[in-house]
Amino acid sequence: MIFYPLLLSFVLSGLSLALAAPLDGRASGSQPHPEQVNHANALTASQSKTTPKHAPAAPNCFPALGFTKPQTLPADNTNWWCDPATEYAFVGFSYEVTACQSREQLIQEFSDIRNHFNSRYVRLYGFCDREGFYDDIVEAAWENTLGVHALIWFGFDGSDIWISRRDTLLAALHANPKAKYVTRVLQFGSEPLFDNVLPHATLAAQVLAAKQNLSSLHIPVTVSELAYGYQERGGAQDVLDAIDSINIHMLPFFSQQASTSDQAWPLVENDLNWFIAHGNGKKMYFDEVSVPLAEGLRRRHSPELAERLAICDFSQRAAQQPTRRRRHSQRTVLAANANRFRELLAQGYYTLLDEHCEDLKAVVGGGIGWFAHIYSDNQEPGYGIYNSAMQLKFPFAPRTEC
Ligand SMILES: *[C@@H]1O[C@H](CO)[C@@H](O)[C@H](O)[C@H]1NC(C)=O
Repeated sequence: MIFYPLLLSFVLSGLSLALAAPLDGRASGSQPHPEQVNHANALTASQSKTTPKHAPAAPNCFPALGFTKPQTLPADNTNWWCDPATEYAFVGFSYEVTACQSREQLIQEFSDIRNHFNSRYVRLYGFCDREGFYDDIVEAAWENTLGVHALIWFGFDGSDIWISRRDTLLAALHANPKAKYVTRVLQFGSEPLFDNVLPHATLAAQVLAAKQNLSSLHIPVTVSELAYGYQERGGAQDVLDAIDSINIHMLPFFSQQASTSDQAWPLVENDLNWFIAHGNGKKMYFDEVSVPLAEGLRRRHSPELAERLAICDFSQRAAQQPTRRRRHSQRTVLAANANRFRELLAQGYYTLLDEHCEDLKAVVGGGIGWFAHIYSDNQEPGYGIYNSAMQLKFPFAPRTEC
């Protein structure tokens, strides 16, 4: 959770647009599209022997949609991953692990993430200090052909526990023979610069040390961070230079200029252009894409925003409703409506990213892959694509290619 000392000034115009637009016009629950990833990997050649003659060759790089697992693992992972240039558009979800999910639950939810939403990745968020937990992640990811953006979690309490988490995770990556085939990148996070958990030079040194540690496994290292996190530390160019890919938290609704979701693209471009200018052409992901909670807006940003949105929604709906339904306590209705508006903002923001697929694909470094934040309200209340009863809040079927 982050806090910006900025005053938001939302306008109401355009909300109906966010309301009306389903993602990409496709129904949710569509089946995976095996042809969705380009044939850009060296494994394709060796695998094509087993492909029926007239069928199109499967894009056999991990974790392409339609990937067929080999009978035996290759000797190493150097020709294993899909070309980063295919990893744009929607790639998957942030998935919080603070509940220390069982292996069974991980397998079941990773299956849903893969098969229901055509995800290629999960980006871990939060922490679970249970012994062997990362082995369960590896197993669930392997089982479901999902890559993992693993995470060393700092937390917000200023303690040194991240050091033991780092050592545990590094050791697990070495010890589990499958780990290097599912772990696409190791992140330091979440937002260590913004939260100022370490001086940027120390963070850069940590990234370099982790890269060194993982070099024999060919697992790259990154930091999960906002543009503002770098900017407020003088740009932290040492960190940008150290990381292998740039994992960006793209949260335009924290801007002073924030408006409705359909107006958010210039704010996205603004942060993105900063990373293009300072990122030296590295591969980039939007690994955290979310909209603040109404409650958060009310308390921290614009105390009036949620109420204004709620009142607007309330009066629009009230005109169409029987009188007795207007007798609800106004407060309850406002709170419910504020949350509904936040959902509409979130839906609108995901729609916006989906509509800008071609723009994101064209970005230097192989295009931008984005992760929805977060899988369900059981992980981070209010932020889920699913609510706490595991029902979709709105249709969600973003494109995985364009
Ligand atoms: C990597 O770090 C872990 C945890 O600190 C350590 O156990 C392991 O020996 C290190 N491996 C290498 C190759 O540096």
